[in-house]
Amino acid sequence: MSDTRIPVGGDSPYEVLVGRDVLSGIPAMLSGAAQVAVLHAAPLAALAERVAGDLAAAGLRPLPIEVPDAEAGKRLSVAEDCWERLGAAGFTRTDAVVGVGGGAVTDLAGFVAACWLRGVRVVQVPTSLLGMVDAAVGGKTGVNTAAGKNLVGAFHPPAGVVCDLDSLATLPPRDLAAGLAEVAKCGFIADPAILAIIEADPEAARDPRGPALRELVERAIAVKARVVSADLRESGLREILNYGHTLGHAIEKRERYAWRHGDAIAVGLVYAAELALLAGRLDEATARRHRSVLVSLGLPVSYAADAFDELHAAMRVDKKSRGATLRFVVLDGLAAPGILTGPDDALLRRAYRSVI
Ligand SMILES: NC(=O)c1ccc[n+]([C@@H]2O[C@H](COP(=O)([O-])OP(=O)(O)OC[C@H]3O[C@@H](n4cnc5c(N)ncnc54)[C@H](O)[C@@H]3O)[C@@H](O)[C@H]2O)c1
Repeated sequence: MSDTRIPVGGDSPYEVLVGRDVLSGIPAMLSGAAQVAVLHAAPLAALAERVAGDLAAAGLRPLPIEVPDAEAGKRLSVAEDCWERLGAAGFTRTDAVVGVGGGAVTDLAGFVAACWLRGVRVVQVPTSLLGMVDAAVGGKTGVNTAAGKNLVGAFHPPAGVVCDLDSLATLPPRDLAAGLAEVAKCGFIADPAILAIIEADPEAARDPRGPALRELVERAIAVKARVVSADLRESGLREILNYGHTLGHAIEKRERYAWRHGDAIAVGLVYAAELALLAGRLDEATARRHRSVLVSLGLPVSYAADAFDELHAAMRVDKKSRGATLRFVVLDGLAAPGILTGPDDALLRRAYRSVI
């Protein structure tokens, strides 16, 4: 099957290339560069080596930089080490960075590129499902600091994104399922065909080598691409991508980020659906569909019965809250997202009963 190119618009348009064996498409996204830093963590070293080989074959000078894996790599000290390497190699404004790995590495690579000489090109090569459908597309980059997760960063759209579906074959099944939570989210907020594909055969949806997952990846990226094309800086429409994230972020925080992001979002999606149902905005069948779709993917849909007060306090400082007023992305129907502003505490508590 041929490659798919999904355009992302806005001030700095780019393409997301999706397919099998598509890594050779990277050099073409970096015309004019002489040197290219290839950031990666140890588990993806072999893939990064292949990328470096393709760059060298295209006449570019690759500079492989290994960074600590996962969140351990999303630190300012690691970004600083990378900048020192770029400085030592004499990286100029026309040189570039490639990020090969999960969302943590692509967030770091984007941030390193955003700050070096106030911005050089980055090509993202996400290797996790979450990275492909979420982290690598949209231009949000950043690191974690003592003040919190993802509070320091920059909007820096990539020059291109290359999603090689073959790389998903080595992703642990639990991580694949967690990525599918974001895919299902896209189904509920914008593209119900995603839900139909999952419901038709949830096992096929989890097969990294099959055509169903490929279509899910392409559809989810297309949803995110449409939204960020219209609103890069989250001044309005982009907010809908946070469906399920208000409670999800609170759960992640309470779990000190030991839960997978997608697992927390799955619980958050069921909660948001129940809130909309109780607020009289969503029909019962669509609300119930959240639970059945997520359960069929092996995702969690419940959380600690005694945690509501703590989660409530955490939700109040969520980035979507304005002052003390809580705001939730909810559905007014399938693929019809809206905002629920300032729901009363009793409603929030009642909805929580659906996830214990
Ligand atoms: N910038 C954004 O818009 C955005 C959006 C969502 C999430 N994120 C960020 O993404 C990160 C989470 O991303 P993630 O879920 O990919 O986690 P991750 O990057 O921590 O990767 C999880 C683990 O999977 C490994 N891995 C990745 N691809 C693999 C593969 N193909 N085979 C084997 N192992 C592989 C990684 O090395 C790591 O050990 C978080 O830091 C989150 O804040 C950013």
